[in-house]
Amino acid sequence: MSAAEDFLRAKSLRTEEALHEVVAGWRGAPPRLVEAVRHSLFAGGKRLRPALALGACELVRGVDTPALPAACALEMIHTYSLIHDDLPAMDDDDLRRGRPTCHKVFGEATAILAGDALLTMAFDTAAETESVEVVRELARAAGICGMAGGQQLDMDAEGRALTLDELRRVHALKTGALIRAAARCGALCGGADAAALGALGEYGARLGLAFQITDDILDVTGDAAALGKRTGADAAHTKATYPGLAGLDASRRLAEEAVDGAVAALEGFGPEAAPLRDLARFVLERDR
Ligand code: IPE
Ligand code: IPE
Ligand code: MG
Ligand code: MG
Ligand code: MG
Repeated sequence: MSAAEDFLRAKSLRTEEALHEVVAGWRGAPPRLVEAVRHSLFAGGKRLRPALALGACELVRGVDTPALPAACALEMIHTYSLIHDDLPAMDDDDLRRGRPTCHKVFGEATAILAGDALLTMAFDTAAETESVEVVRELARAAGICGMAGGQQLDMDAEGRALTLDELRRVHALKTGALIRAAARCGALCGGADAAALGALGEYGARLGLAFQITDDILDVTGDAAALGKRTGADAAHTKATYPGLAGLDASRRLAEEAVDGAVAALEGFGPEAAPLRDLARFVLERDR
């Protein structure tokens, strides 16, 4: 296993444990809604966003514990986005994280509410950081000028030929914003100065773009069993994607360029930034 996979696994275990505690605290909640949340949240996601938050905090502070609530909040927001992204009104997918999608198991109404619950309770969890900056960062990344806005652009782009600049914007918003916020929230929790915060935000934004380009590539070349979601879905929905617009080879090159940019953004840090550099390169090799 590579250093990046080790790092991801270690941070994922910490996040998993903390997420179980968060959900265990929801006493008196309707059991069916909790079950729907658990179905999607504890299904073996990669936990990339929490790992970035924990890694960024560790980089600036030497420990990652201060970022644990933010890491959980990021994963809750991300999981909500997946539940809603899979709904029939959006991408209409029936497989996610190796399981039938939330709406397939619990029905659309409960899946919508599971997403609503995760999004709102993410802010309850984020409030544990006692940082208004972290809460604001998450709100803006998930909101109308971030992921929600990007998802609108993604839906609007179905069946349309975008320019590469337009597509980069869709990807920056629907996926890049939350990945950038993960790095920035971790930095904020670690007490980063303005330069470190800026550098980690730049790293996250570039990594986020690379991550969505590889997601598009894997939809064409990947293996559904490894990915835990169906492939070929983008073409079936005439989605605007990098392979669709630029071809596979150019897409791979653009993903590499974005990762190079992410690594370059960390040049002000020393060897202690190795885990984040490795993680960036790992995004190019991932098969899930
Ligand atoms: C999938 O995200 C959706 C995108 C934003 C590309 P991930 O690939 O991080 O999904 P999980 O969390 O590992 O399931
Ligand atoms: C998802 O993009 C972006 C989100 C904000 C959830 P996709 O629609 O490409 O993600 P997958 O391929 O379904 O995971
Ligand atoms: Mg989508
Ligand atoms: Mg989708
Ligand atoms: Mg995709």
